[in-house]
Amino acid sequence: MGTSKPQGSFIRRVLARKAYWGSLELHIFHNASAVAGTLSPDEPVILNRPHAAVRAARFFSEKFPGKSLYAVKANPSPDLIQVLWESGITHFDVASIAEVRLVRGLLPDAELCFMHPVKTASAIREAYRQHGVKTFSLDSHEELAKIVAATTAEDGTPAADLRLCVRLRVSSEYSELSLASKFGVDLADAAPLLQATRQAADWLGICFHVGSQAMTPFAYVQALERVRAAIVDAAVTIDIVDVGGGFPSAYPGMEPPPLEDYFDVIHRAAESLPVSYSSELWCEPGRALCAEYNSLIVKVEKRRGDELYINDGAYGALFDAAHIGWRFPVKCLAEGRGEPTGEFAFYGPTCDDGDYMKGPFLLPDDIAAGDYIEIGMLGAYGAAMRTAFNGFGHGEVVTATDEPMVSLYTGQRRDRRASDNVVSLR
Ligand SMILES: Cc1ncc(COP(=O)(O)O)c(C=O)c1O
Repeated sequence: MGTSKPQGSFIRRVLARKAYWGSLELHIFHNASAVAGTLSPDEPVILNRPHAAVRAARFFSEKFPGKSLYAVKANPSPDLIQVLWESGITHFDVASIAEVRLVRGLLPDAELCFMHPVKTASAIREAYRQHGVKTFSLDSHEELAKIVAATTAEDGTPAADLRLCVRLRVSSEYSELSLASKFGVDLADAAPLLQATRQAADWLGICFHVGSQAMTPFAYVQALERVRAAIVDAAVTIDIVDVGGGFPSAYPGMEPPPLEDYFDVIHRAAESLPVSYSSELWCEPGRALCAEYNSLIVKVEKRRGDELYINDGAYGALFDAAHIGWRFPVKCLAEGRGEPTGEFAFYGPTCDDGDYMKGPFLLPDDIAAGDYIEIGMLGAYGAAMRTAFNGFGHGEVVTATDEPMVSLYTGQRRDRRASDNVVSLR
């Protein structure tokens, strides 16, 4: 891991704000060992790393060749949303009326885009009339009719300022988590929907999602080819091409190519689309903007061979580790333990057999009950997934000033020429 540039003034402002609120300044620690040593916590502790979110947001806002919308569902922490906004993210992908209210309450001037293709009429109405939301996604004629009805004025005048994005079904074959089944109009049915949406929209967009943690930029090339076919078929003017989320982060066993490679191929593919000259290119990263923001300290309550009973799990921040076998980086915080050469599985704190994370998680062979472990890269779909099932799900939240366990943004990246799975369009 390389050293990062100091995020000077912004971090100082965050710290100053916390200091202003009194005791919160006590919650800023150098690293996870300092947290465990100072608090000896019996409950899991979430560590926030605002500087990591600042870096990710600046990377996307400076290098993505278009607009980056933060997908709030990945981590709706108000502190994080504020940090992203102050670091250049001005647009937010919100997918429920609760997310609309949350972000609007925090950021009166942010641009909110309601990108869930199936919404209630009341959610659309409230978003449009009370929160200034103009951008909606859809994948059916029924949803289009619902959006038009919910945004029509009481005197019967239809809304003239809608930005409507038709979600196209694309393959998830290059991604670790599929998003190909539930949403998206098939290419064969896209033309009539695009044509009908064009009639109702001030701006017409096409959006898609290649699945989360897309391990090669080719995923986007393939999807954009489908976008091209849809546009040609429908013969409509397109104002927004939204390539969705899916930008990866780094986890054990998942080392993606540099994000610049994704941006390059998306830029080239989008440039060659038959869209209006003034059209906009958007993306909706969730994971890539927030994975590095959180880690978690857990306590080993019991050891049974190579199984560790810890105090967070499937119903907490380790949902993905349990349900889809996702591996997260781990570090034993106890002093004097050996090298991390042992392979361990985790049991979470609830009484459920399914509260099990098979890993393997690499930790010292002599790890024992009472030791603390830091689990990294839990900012995306981790910290946000905690439930109160079985009375668990509580714990402190503190700020850490050290680097996340892994980073895509600290300059340590593979030689681009070595990215053999990058496909050139030329
Ligand atoms: C519509 C939409 N956009 C963006 C995202 C964020 O995806 P990711 O976290 O893979 O970047 C999601 C995730 O489910 C989504 O459903």
